[in-house]
Amino acid sequence: MTQRNQYVHGYDQREQDRLISQADHWRAMIVQHTPLHAGERLLEVGCGAGAVLGVLGKAYPEAALHGIDIEPAQIAAAEAHLAAIGVKAEVKVAAAGQLPWADGSFDHVFFMWMLEHLTEHDSVLREARRVLKPGGTVHITETDYNFVTHPPSADFAFLMEAWRKHFTGRGDALLARKLGPLLLRAGFANVKIGFSGFHNYAGEANEALFGMANYHADYVEPEIEAIAAEQLVNVQKLRRGVEWLRALADQPDASISGTVYRATATA
Ligand SMILES: C[S@@+](CC[C@H](N)C(=O)[O-])C[C@H]1O[C@@H](n2cnc3c(N)ncnc32)[C@H](O)[C@@H]1O
Repeated sequence: MTQRNQYVHGYDQREQDRLISQADHWRAMIVQHTPLHAGERLLEVGCGAGAVLGVLGKAYPEAALHGIDIEPAQIAAAEAHLAAIGVKAEVKVAAAGQLPWADGSFDHVFFMWMLEHLTEHDSVLREARRVLKPGGTVHITETDYNFVTHPPSADFAFLMEAWRKHFTGRGDALLARKLGPLLLRAGFANVKIGFSGFHNYAGEANEALFGMANYHADYVEPEIEAIAAEQLVNVQKLRRGVEWLRALADQPDASISGTVYRATATA
């Protein structure tokens, strides 16, 4: 089980703000992929700063929303964020492997950018199934940390290889690829795995390429010193990878693509 001090992004205000703008970026995907009916009960496991619950609460004000996170600072931030935007949700500190609800309590259990931060998934998915009503739905969204750019860059490839290794002992940067077998092993039925990738390119409206490249640079850059120290790699080479990514949008014909895996299954 991942312990709170292993979480790769840390728990400061900058990270909580990042989660809120991240959920805003993915708002349409979150809402479209998680249709909620009035009175349905949803639990978000690893709700962080309440960013996703905020998006769901605005779209589906008649659903009953609940969230847990292992870190008290995240739950405090979630309470503040949800109060500020006027979304009603119950959030509390708890661990994904020991959910404080009886069997069959929810219509939906939701994970977003969360399972990648765990080293052990089977018990967490079984616990999610336990709290779902028979026929209830688990929803999982995870990215694959293997982005494709044009032009390619050795410095960026080096950075991303180091980033994936940074998850070792803290989670699994390639977890998204294993969701189907994991769900089957946890006893779920009707497993469906879909893709919601992104592709942003030079000249696209609203500086989308600049925004996406900097979105990825923003969560990797604060970890550069720790990665260099742990992996005994050249910090300047890691920095060159970040700088290259931040300047990607200035290159002719540039683009960045990535895959977001979206899994649903029923209990
Ligand atoms: C990247 S954040 C995602 C938050 C939220 N899902 C979102 O998209 O904004 C992952 C969250 O999972 C939480 N977490 C990690 N391990 C956990 C565990 N074992 N039980 C509950 N929460 C956990 C972390 O504290 C962190 O807040």
